[in-house]
Amino acid sequence: MSTNTSDFRRVTTKSLKVMKEKKIKIAALTAYDYLFAKLVDKAGIDLILVGDSLGNVFQGNETTLPVTIEEMIYHTKAVMRGITRSMVICDMPFMSYQTNPDDAFKNAGRIMKETNAGGVKVEGGEYIAETIYKITRNGIPVMGHVGLMPQSIHQYGSYKARGVDDKEADQIIQDAIAVEQAGAFAIVLEKIPAKLAKTISEKISIPTIGIGAGPYCDGQILVLHDMLGLNEDFKPRFVRKYLNLAKEIDNAIKQYVADIKKSDFPNENESY
Ligand code: KIV
Repeated sequence: MSTNTSDFRRVTTKSLKVMKEKKIKIAALTAYDYLFAKLVDKAGIDLILVGDSLGNVFQGNETTLPVTIEEMIYHTKAVMRGITRSMVICDMPFMSYQTNPDDAFKNAGRIMKETNAGGVKVEGGEYIAETIYKITRNGIPVMGHVGLMPQSIHQYGSYKARGVDDKEADQIIQDAIAVEQAGAFAIVLEKIPAKLAKTISEKISIPTIGIGAGPYCDGQILVLHDMLGLNEDFKPRFVRKYLNLAKEIDNAIKQYVADIKKSDFPNENESY
């Protein structure tokens, strides 16, 4: 069985479906700008999410709620310029789809028209199914998102794992089924027990993409800045740090400052 995801020239909803069927794991990351998107795409990531987590990571907000549709479009356009193979999904920000299915469809359509992304993502389960149906029936691929939904943080009161008791776990299963039935092509499972994510991944035929949801999902996603170790203050156990880039950057900038102070930079070769 091939596990070479570069078999897919341009990743689409169809290739993600085939990957689930062939049990080829889907590798996903976030990106918010051109240069990072270019690196992420080149390294073989199947799906890039322009997440509204940019509200935290890029803008420094406490929650994702202040992010606007204009900002999502701006970042998605930059990401699109950097990619050749990855599928790019644009998160729909808070209040761009919750009001009613018609507003949601108009905003999803605007995102697709202005960014050329491959689809949109919305948070929510059964209660958002009609909205997902409206968008997908009109030809726009939708990715769902259940479990911990950061746009509902004020209702939860904390970022702790969801679905740890049976009642909430059953609701999350129902939500994932409703999202699939409404026409979503994939679904993010965020911060739920691994066993629950396994049950959902076996019950539904669309790919599950986990973040803090254990190893049994059909794919995994992390926030790029977290896995690169750029955010020193953020250390949840589901993030594996592949680099300590914050430290590397600190060393580089300190060296730059020192070089300027001792008149070592620029040297003759670096001057005209
Ligand atoms: O906004 C985001 O980056 C996300 C991922 C964490 C899945 O929704």
